[in-house]
Amino acid sequence: MSNSNQKNNLLTKIQNGKAIIGIIGLGYVGLPLALAYAEKDFKVSGFDVDLNKVKTLNSGQSYISHIDGIKVKQAVKSKRLSATADFSRLNEPDVIIICVPTPLTPQLDPDMSYIVKTTEQIKKCLRAGQLIVLESTTYPGTTEELVKDILEQTGMACGRDFYLAFSPEREDPGNKKFYTTNIPKIVGGVDKDSGDLARAIYEKVIQQTVRVGNARTAEAVKLTENIFRAVNIAMVNELKIIYERMNIDIWEVLDAASTKPFGFMRFNPGPGWGGHCIPLDPFYLSWKARECGIDTKFIELAGEVNRLMPGYIIGKLQQALNERGKSIKGSKLMILGLAYKKDINDTRETPAYKIMHRLTEMGAKISYHDPFVSEIKHTRQWPGAPVLKSQKLTEKTIAAKDAIIIITDHTPVDYKLIAKKAKLIIDSRGVYRKQMKNLVKA
Ligand SMILES: NC(=O)c1ccc[n+]([C@@H]2O[C@H](COP(=O)([O-])OP(=O)(O)OC[C@H]3O[C@@H](n4cnc5c(N)ncnc54)[C@H](O)[C@@H]3O)[C@@H](O)[C@H]2O)c1
Repeated sequence: MSNSNQKNNLLTKIQNGKAIIGIIGLGYVGLPLALAYAEKDFKVSGFDVDLNKVKTLNSGQSYISHIDGIKVKQAVKSKRLSATADFSRLNEPDVIIICVPTPLTPQLDPDMSYIVKTTEQIKKCLRAGQLIVLESTTYPGTTEELVKDILEQTGMACGRDFYLAFSPEREDPGNKKFYTTNIPKIVGGVDKDSGDLARAIYEKVIQQTVRVGNARTAEAVKLTENIFRAVNIAMVNELKIIYERMNIDIWEVLDAASTKPFGFMRFNPGPGWGGHCIPLDPFYLSWKARECGIDTKFIELAGEVNRLMPGYIIGKLQQALNERGKSIKGSKLMILGLAYKKDINDTRETPAYKIMHRLTEMGAKISYHDPFVSEIKHTRQWPGAPVLKSQKLTEKTIAAKDAIIIITDHTPVDYKLIAKKAKLIIDSRGVYRKQMKNLVKA
């Protein structure tokens, strides 16, 4: 079969909705994507190493708080969606989309082991005519160098026998306005045919696709977006510290600056940075840039400033307790909001754990309240963390604490009750704008 026949066959299958979709990694990115294809009547096979996720999904339930269980149930019941941990079935899908984690090593270097392991698994079953798309955030060159090289060890050639592209995920978990299908999708193929096919498959479920020249450009787009956020969060955090010394309220400044109809984009200060993306992804570029002999100064500086913020909040707490004749040691402290951002249950890289860990080391008696996170167990950020359960927020529990430290400003929290009953509130999110006797803006 000629190349163009092979490409046209896959294109026709995609356009007729007959292409089988395989999604590797059924997490925050992979599961919504799998559902989006299932809802458009594609047959979707999800692959994951986590047997609990496979089992839960196959029983028609969601394991991610903001993903509707009813949608999962319908997709599974209609036999459009199923999950498996049997990677020998990777020859079945016509299109394989990789959504596995891309963390950092403790030395802040890219941990490529998930992508490598997954690509090795695809390699074992690769068949002519398959399209592979990498979605995991990574350094420019990963798809064209690492993934392609591994797959071509089969003797098959990219663009001739199989197709390969990169298309970054732009998921914003919990965002009701922008979700998988209405966020424009960047697509870059390793070659033209791969790009054409990748665009075609995303056009079936996503309202707008944006084609870029190649895979490495698509990889750079994603990193640019996240570096933009990381640097701006750091800048506003630094401004907060400067203005505080000058007795200027950062929140009032930002409210006023935001009235400028052009040339200003608002970022809010907070307890640092969190989530699977912003604290990690920028360092993928730093690592790759070092290979080109370039230091990424903005990224390093953003890391430095944002990593200082938990310590800054603890300093404000320490000072406020001191003014009340108390110390952190022995104080009863409640952390409000564990998730790294509001109204979701994702605690990955959350500054809350760093703060709780440090306060525990300093001898505080720590509790927490989070309407989305019912209990915490062990985490990489806080080895040896006690198994704590979210405490109820009542007049009694609030008044019993020496301080309530707001790390994440979840919506379903009675902030009026806290204002009325708390001895001391350390507010890192600008929940309270008016000055109160028991309030310290941090
Ligand atoms: N969460 C987000 O909002 C977001 C946004 C944009 C980009 N991303 C990127 O998308 C990628 C996935 O992130 P996520 O948030 O979905 O991660 P996640 O941890 O929620 O999901 C990853 C899934 O992959 C599975 N997995 C791990 N190793 C595997 C393997 N070898 N084979 C099959 N499955 C495996 C895990 O069990 C898990 O279910 C990352 O590169 C991330 O940077 C995430």
